[in-house]
Amino acid sequence: MRVLVTGGAGYIGSHTAKALAQAGFEPVTYDNLSEGHRWAVQWGPLVEGSLSDSALLRNTLKQHSVEAVIHFAAFAYVGQSMTEPRKYFQNNVTDALVLLDAILDAGIRTFVFSSSCAVYGVPESLPIPESNPKQPLSPYGESKQILERILGWYDGAYGLHSACLRYFNAAGADADGQIGELHRCETHLIPLVIESALGRRGPVDIFGSDYETADGTAVRDYIHVSDLAEAHVLALRRLLEQKQSLAANLGTGQGVSVAEIIRAVEKQAGVSVASRRTSRRPGDPPALVADPSQARSLLGWNPTLSTIDEIVASALRWHRKITDEMRSS
Ligand code: UFG
Repeated sequence: MRVLVTGGAGYIGSHTAKALAQAGFEPVTYDNLSEGHRWAVQWGPLVEGSLSDSALLRNTLKQHSVEAVIHFAAFAYVGQSMTEPRKYFQNNVTDALVLLDAILDAGIRTFVFSSSCAVYGVPESLPIPESNPKQPLSPYGESKQILERILGWYDGAYGLHSACLRYFNAAGADADGQIGELHRCETHLIPLVIESALGRRGPVDIFGSDYETADGTAVRDYIHVSDLAEAHVLALRRLLEQKQSLAANLGTGQGVSVAEIIRAVEKQAGVSVASRRTSRRPGDPPALVADPSQARSLLGWNPTLSTIDEIVASALRWHRKITDEMRSS
């Protein structure tokens, strides 16, 4: 079965394309390469194009006889979304509607959506179940929430079955070292700490050390990208079999602080990492930890690679492999 993977040249998209191929599906990547990389597309064809290009989308779905879609292509920088909300609503909502139109017109009724824990904002309780109120703090989170709601209406009206997968903090890299995280503008904690450990950057800024957490630094739920990828395959299978929409948190249920991440990188890299305590980053909740029980019960999902040591070790191996050529292609 051919599956269109929008954003399949990106970090989570490329790991999912690999997982799909290993599970016997045929991924077709659709990506404009604005954030993704050509070298990351290794498990099927790449169609280079934009989400707003309705004709190309329709042609791609037809030519490749696509039967299901996994949609990653979106802007995903929370901070940038605060200052450039137009960009986020245009791409993540308006252009996604062009994709949904093409899908519906092609008769496709199976859709896996890359959502985010950013839909919850500052959570009412921890760990966060799917039923927690959705009060996004950023246009990025809002854009994900809007699409989730649209998908709810499209299920009722058109029978489009969707799985909204709310990721917590994706991290780590493919165990075979074929792909990994490489953003053109890196803002995520683990790659930044690793780059510091490898001497490619100065000290790590710890954004806030006065949170009401055990060590005062912010707590997140880090999930290995290959475990995330596996969840997409499981969600796709479930949608195809049960034809019933769902939403599920993808995290481990374990919170890890910024200070603990720095220590984990120091341990794996065998060096000490210089850091400095700075003020909180606007829009950052103090702690985000998933209640992943729904993903376990509905999807049978069981993350196996998501200890912090495994995540950091795989990311470190990957960062040691990155070349200048990879950065520019
Ligand atoms: N952090 C630092 N220093 C840095 C970078 C990050 O202390 O240089 C801290 C952040 O303040 C945060 C934690 O490390 O507390 C993790 O930050 P990341 O930027 O790695 O990830 P976020 O938690 O901000 O972002 C993730 C996903 C988003 C999602 C968001 C929801 O990447 O897609 O969670 O809040 F929207």
